[in-house]
Amino acid sequence: MSSERKSSTLAVVNCGQLVTLAGPARPRVGAEMRELGIIADGAIIVREGLIEEVGTTEQIKSLIDSDCELVDAGRCVVLPGFVDAHTHPVFSGTRVDEFEQRAEGATYEEIAARGGGIQSTVNATRGVHDDMLVHESCGYIDWFLRCGTTTIEAKSGYGLSLEDELKILRVIRKLGHGGLRYVPTFLGAHSVPPEYRSRRDEYVSLIIEEMLPAVASQNLAEFCDVFCERNVFTIDESRKILSAARDHGLGLRIHADQLSLSGGAQLAAELGTVTADHLEHTDAAAIAALKSAGVQPVLLPGSVYALGSSRYPAAREMIDAGLAVVLATDFNPGSSPTPSMNMILSLASTHMKMTPAESITAATINAAYSLNRGAQLGSIEPGKIADFVIHEHFDYRDLAYFFGFVSADQVYSSGTLVVDRYF
Ligand code: NIG
Ligand code: FE
Repeated sequence: MSSERKSSTLAVVNCGQLVTLAGPARPRVGAEMRELGIIADGAIIVREGLIEEVGTTEQIKSLIDSDCELVDAGRCVVLPGFVDAHTHPVFSGTRVDEFEQRAEGATYEEIAARGGGIQSTVNATRGVHDDMLVHESCGYIDWFLRCGTTTIEAKSGYGLSLEDELKILRVIRKLGHGGLRYVPTFLGAHSVPPEYRSRRDEYVSLIIEEMLPAVASQNLAEFCDVFCERNVFTIDESRKILSAARDHGLGLRIHADQLSLSGGAQLAAELGTVTADHLEHTDAAAIAALKSAGVQPVLLPGSVYALGSSRYPAAREMIDAGLAVVLATDFNPGSSPTPSMNMILSLASTHMKMTPAESITAATINAAYSLNRGAQLGSIEPGKIADFVIHEHFDYRDLAYFFGFVSADQVYSSGTLVVDRYF
C-alpha cells in the first residue's frame, strides 16, 4: 500500500471489495441488512474531507487529476469506519481485581451488592481532575481508532454527583479532537450512589431538577440514558428521568433487560426511545412492542462474553421481526473491557447467528442512524464524511471469521490518515 503527496483531494483505488453500505437513507431492516453495496475493485475520491465519487477503479481513474493524493488499497477490503453506538469510555482505573474475582466464581451482581462494580469506578473517578481524566481516556481513544472505529457514543455515569457528571461530560467534549468523533450521552442514572441509598427519591430528584437542566443548558449531551434493572433504577424512576430528559430536548436511550426481564424494553416502546440497549432477557412480546414503536435495539455481546454468561440477546428474532439492529462494544471497565468491533462481529456470528453482512450493517449504517448521524456517517456514499478503513483482509466476512485479531491497517477520519499500522 502506498500514498504519494498531501493534497485536499484523495483517491483510494484498487479496493478489492469496497463495502459501501449504499442504500436507502434510513436504517436497514430484514433482508436489507445483508445488502452491503459491495463494489469489486472499487475506488473513492475524497475532496475536503467528504466522499465525492464512488465507483470502480476503472471508472474513477479517469476522474483523478494531477494534484490528487493517491492511495493504493492493495486489493484489500475497505469499509466505512465503525460507529460504536454504546460506550462508557471516561473513567479512572480498571476493575481487573473484580475480573479476577469473577474468574474465582463471584458474579457481577454479587460484586456490585458489596460496593464494587460501577460504584468502585465511581469512587476512583470522582477524585480525579479533568486533565488527568482526559489523559487516562486518551489511551482508550487511541485503541478505538486502531480498531477501525471512527465514531463513538460516549456516556457519562461514573460521577453520580452534579459536579462529577458535568466533569465527565466536559472531558468527553475535550476528547472530541484527533480523529475520533463523539456523541455524548448523559448517564447520571447509572447507579444510585451510596450516600443516597436510603433516600433514592432524592437522587432521582437531583437528576431531574439539577443535573438534567445543567447538562441541557451547557449543551453537554445529545442523549440521556438510564440503567433500568433490578436493584438499580425501577421502571417508574426510569420513566420519570427519561420523560424529564425529553422535556429538555435530549434523545433517549435505555439499558434494558440486561440481567433480568425487568420491563425496560416495554418502557422503551412506551416512551418511543431512540434505542433500547442490551436486551439479553427481552421476550417476544417486548420485541413486538419495540417494532411497533420504531425503537432500535443496540446489542452488546461483549458484555455477555466478559461476564461469562451464555445469555445472548435474541438477535435473529429481532432481525426477523424487522428491527433495525445495532451492534456496539459497550466498552467499560466492568462488564465489557473491549474496544474491538472485530470481536463484536465474531460474537454476533458465533453466538447470535447474525451473518457477517448483517453484523457489518449493524456496526456501521444502522449504528449511525441510532445516533442521529445517518445522513453524515456509516456508509461510503457521495456527500458523506470520508471516514473509512482499509482492512488487512480480502473478503469482508473475514472480519467476523478471524477472531482475537484487529484487522484495521489504515484508518481515515474526514479523509485524513489517523492510523497507519505500517508506521
Ligand atoms: O452496560 N449495565 C450498566 N452499565 C454497563 C456496565 C458498567 C460497569 O460495570 O462499569 C454495561 O454493561
Ligand atoms: Fe452500557
